[in-house]
Order: sequence, then C-alpha cells, then structure tokens
Amino acid sequence: MRRPLIAGNWKMNGTKADAAELVRGIVAGVSGMQKTDVAVCPPFPYLYLVEELLQGTAIGWGSQDVSCEDGGAFTGQVSAAMLKDFGCRYAIVGHSERRQLNGETDGVIARKYAQAVANGLVPILCVGETLEEREQGKTEEVVAKHIDGVLNLEGVDAYAHGVVAYEPVWAIGTGVTATPAQAQEVHAFLRERIAKKSKEIAKGLRILYGGSMKPGNAAELIGQPDIDGGLIGGASLNAADFVAICQAGEDNA
Ligand code: 13P
Repeated sequence: MRRPLIAGNWKMNGTKADAAELVRGIVAGVSGMQKTDVAVCPPFPYLYLVEELLQGTAIGWGSQDVSCEDGGAFTGQVSAAMLKDFGCRYAIVGHSERRQLNGETDGVIARKYAQAVANGLVPILCVGETLEEREQGKTEEVVAKHIDGVLNLEGVDAYAHGVVAYEPVWAIGTGVTATPAQAQEVHAFLRERIAKKSKEIAKGLRILYGGSMKPGNAAELIGQPDIDGGLIGGASLNAADFVAICQAGEDNA
C-alpha cells in the first residue's frame, strides 16, 4: 500500500508573516494524522523560516525548483546540496509553469531530478498536457515524453527515489479539475509505462494529482486506485483547506 502524500506548492505567494501563520495553522491541523505524509514547498527565501517552524514535526518541506548543476557560477540558481542543508526533503522539478515560462526541457528537468536524488532529496516530477494537446488526443504521448526524460537519463531505478505528479495544465489554477476518471486513466498509464521497465518500482511509486484540488473534490480523486495524494496550489495557501485535503489523504490511507 502506498502512503499518501499531500504537498503544498505555494508558488510565488505570500509574505514572511503569511508563511509563518500558514505553517502554524498546518502544524495544528495535521498534528493527529499518522498515515499521510504532508509537505509544504514555500518560495526559496522562506525555507529557513519554514525549517525553523517545522523541525521536530512530521511535516516535511521542499523547494519549488532545483538547479541541474552542482554549484559554482550559476547566478540565481539554488543547488540540491543547499536545499539539503536547509533540511528539505522534497524538490519539485518540471512544473508546467517552469516548462512554459522558463523554457525548461525534459533533458534539463531530468538533470534536476538526478541532482535531487544524488543529494538525498525526493524529487516531485510534474508531468501534464495542455488543453490543446488533450483536444488533439495527445495526452498519453505528452506525459510519456515527460516520464521518459528521467528514464532515458537515469534509468528506471531513479523512480524508486522520487514522486510523480500528474498536473494537467488546463486544470492548474483554473477551478476546472480533471474528473476522477480522467485523472485515474492517466495515472494508470504513467504507472504502466514505468512497469514496462520494473513492475516493483511502478507498484511503489507515488503518483500525485495536481490541478484545482480542493477540500470538495480531494476525497474522490485520492480514492482512485492510482492516485496517491495531491500537489496543491491555491488551496495550500489556506491552512483549513490544506488540512482538509490532508484529512482526505488520511481517510483514504
Ligand atoms: P492549483 O491547485 O492552484 O490548481 O495548482 C496546482 C499546481 O500547479 C500545483 O503544483
């Protein structure tokens, strides 16, 4: 049985004070939960604060991106070793906003994934199609390409150390969520793609859903056989909503 993971991706939101208040609300709300892994991914400057507030709790924290390089003259980048130094457990890689706005390719994303694993972080690899790609019937082709980037660079073993998040681009921040059946279909496809290389790794791999997940739809999504939790954007900025989604994970564990 895969342990659910509910991770909040705060994106570029909030102040230091907001971050502290949000973390305190989450700590209080999830304190009794035993069966679900919970994590928050704040903007880089708040990682130190989040580390201070979450140390000694069961809640993990992570980054929204990581450099594909070891270190050195890479202005503006943050290495996996630095994130580890700040106690991070997770690093999101390949978010569609970075693919689209920062031109990240599957090759670069695979290197980021590898950097995370090499430094003892758990990468959360985001995959997902745009509305246009879905309408053209290309969903499987697109997500397969996203998954294959890591397979080609690092082999299937890399998926024993990471998490995948299926985030249909058309569902992110739009209020339109994939139906549980639509999401399940893609999750099953992703797992099957990895199972072709290793049944065991595919069986153990957590595949999260992301895209307008809210307290009202979380239970049904997480209830699908191949959906192992959520990567939450907007609703992760509200402690009560985020805690309610964590509870949906707990109830389904
Ligand atoms: P929303 O939950 O705001 O749709 O964002 C999802 C997401 O992009 C998480 O990484």
